[in-house]
Amino acid sequence: MVKSDALRYTRFLTYGDSAIPAVGFGTLIPDPFATKEAVKTALEVGFRHLDCAERYRNEEAVGSAMREAFEAGLLRREELFVTTKLWNNNHRPERVKQAFDASCRRLKLDYIDCYVIHTPFAFQPGDQQDPRDDRDQVIYDSDVTLLETWHALERLVDAGDCKSIGLSDITLRKLREIVAAARIRPSMVQVESHPYLPEWDLLDFCKERGIVLQAFAALGHALEPRVLDDPVITAIAQRVHKTPAQVALAWAVQRGTAFLTTSTNPRRIQENFDISILPEDAMREIRYCITTNVRFNAVVETGVPGFIPSIR
Ligand SMILES: NC(=O)c1ccc[n+]([C@@H]2O[C@H](COP(=O)([O-])OP(=O)(O)OC[C@H]3O[C@@H](n4cnc5c(N)ncnc54)[C@H](OP(=O)(O)O)[C@@H]3O)[C@@H](O)[C@H]2O)c1
Repeated sequence: MVKSDALRYTRFLTYGDSAIPAVGFGTLIPDPFATKEAVKTALEVGFRHLDCAERYRNEEAVGSAMREAFEAGLLRREELFVTTKLWNNNHRPERVKQAFDASCRRLKLDYIDCYVIHTPFAFQPGDQQDPRDDRDQVIYDSDVTLLETWHALERLVDAGDCKSIGLSDITLRKLREIVAAARIRPSMVQVESHPYLPEWDLLDFCKERGIVLQAFAALGHALEPRVLDDPVITAIAQRVHKTPAQVALAWAVQRGTAFLTTSTNPRRIQENFDISILPEDAMREIRYCITTNVRFNAVVETGVPGFIPSIR
């Protein structure tokens, strides 16, 4: 029997004094009914950090699950850290506040803990989330810079609408530029990261600046080559009497990142919350003995999400 410890309750303090729960539940679930059920289960098992996005087209379902949990007395709003994200067609500064308010309305919240620019790529402004030309190529918007969009997010913090702001799918080079020019620094940076894509340089930079690196696809999106079948991970899992997923998630927190994982399976949702501290030798083995290097999601290169059904 593995003794339970407090790793799952880890919080990281960031610039702006937000305390971000390290253990986060992602809501990229295509079906709204499944979204609501999964979020309810996540809150029941103890997740206190939800990651949402206008692009996921299910903020209403997440909002209903949160509302029911608040009304049932399971938790209070202020105990929950909610992130949602501005999509690429809303990068023009004059569109930001409207997009933010619409997310709040759908989520049934009157503030957001961290509002994040979903990708650094601006798409043609308008109602289409995935604007394409007649050759099916994405229509980008070259008339707005990431810094201009960032300044619009800073104004949301000034107005008290959101407590902190962040970036996602960003490279270290672009992050440095924003950090150098920002009036309000990013609290959080959300990027793909797991044992096959550890992003150590980005993590070092974030730690030096008091920015939380939030790892999405912390289990490698369940794609091949499967992180959860890696022999280093499975051997550690056997040794410490945990599952491979719990090993990968504990590693994420112990090296200093927040993580996002998603499941619609109640048993796995519970499993992903029940993480425990790994011994130092296991941490070293994951860092130095795993040599596979894979990026599963190309969104960082194009702004086009790899895992959302395309709805035009
Ligand atoms: N910023 C971005 O561009 C971006 C991109 C992608 C994702 N995200 C965010 O990150 C969140 C997490 O990403 P992700 O969904 O790819 O995470 P993930 O946890 O790496 O992968 C989820 C997949 O792993 C399976 N799984 C979950 N727990 C498991 C376990 N204990 N054992 C075995 N398999 C397990 C799930 O299947 P079952 O449902 O069958 O359990 C699902 O297929 C998203 O929901 C979203 O909020 C952000």
